[in-house]
Amino acid sequence: MDDAVRRNRAAWETAAGKYVREHDDLLREAREGTSLNPSEIELLRPLLRAAPAVVHLQSGHGLDDVALVAAGARTVIGVDYSAVTTGAAHRRAAALGLACRYVVAELPGAPLSDGCAELVYTGKGALIWMRDLAAWARDVARLLRPAGHLFVYEAHPAAALWSWDADEPRIRADRSYFGDCFVNDTFPGNGAVEFQWTLGEIVNVVLAAGLELLHLAEHPDPFWRPGGITAAAWSGRLPNAFSLLARRPPEPAD
Ligand SMILES: C[S@@+](CC[C@H](N)C(=O)[O-])C[C@H]1O[C@@H](n2cnc3c(N)ncnc32)[C@H](O)[C@@H]1O
Repeated sequence: MDDAVRRNRAAWETAAGKYVREHDDLLREAREGTSLNPSEIELLRPLLRAAPAVVHLQSGHGLDDVALVAAGARTVIGVDYSAVTTGAAHRRAAALGLACRYVVAELPGAPLSDGCAELVYTGKGALIWMRDLAAWARDVARLLRPAGHLFVYEAHPAAALWSWDADEPRIRADRSYFGDCFVNDTFPGNGAVEFQWTLGEIVNVVLAAGLELLHLAEHPDPFWRPGGITAAAWSGRLPNAFSLLARRPPEPAD
């Protein structure tokens, strides 16, 4: 593990204490509703109809795992390098009696067998933590069985540049769309460093890993709105999220 990844992992382990402290609230949230947003549900519905075995890369607090099972997934395996996070997610899934299991591991390089996933689900603050995005895409392609799908719902890479001013959006002077990395100033904080990937780079690593692109859309709403903030950048004029659906090509006989 290189220094940047080690530092980020430590930041996440510290921040993940929140998921332990908020266990009861998150359990209530998981019981009461879905964490999947309407655009996700629309894209995922036909895939979940087939009751796929899902691998959730960077599964975080695991609310999406609960929602994926509720929406039809047969099983979900969450992979995340935070033992605190996966412990909290495991405790919640166990309390709900759900078919979710968790693996503590650094990504890319999931310690799961080739072709084990019918659907790889990820995003909502995941790709910015990947130091080597091409290796991430190759790992996804390896995990997918032929004809399996990759679904990403993620912060738009341009959203890192928008200020959170209430009157009008401004472009942050300390960020570049084409930059390499910058210090995270929201969550997990604690000195974590985000990697900046452009939309073009993201699409190209997916294609280079041998996947077929089926869908790419940009969305005005951010996937996460920190409490108490109403940013003009989220009023519908700017891209704040994107969704991507790709597929590992079927075997000739499929
Ligand atoms: C913002 S969360 C993702 C959220 C998750 N998709 C959700 O909605 O709950 C980012 C997660 O990525 C994990 N993470 C970051 N870098 C990682 C890496 N290199 N390997 C494995 N997990 C990583 C962190 O521990 C954290 O739980």
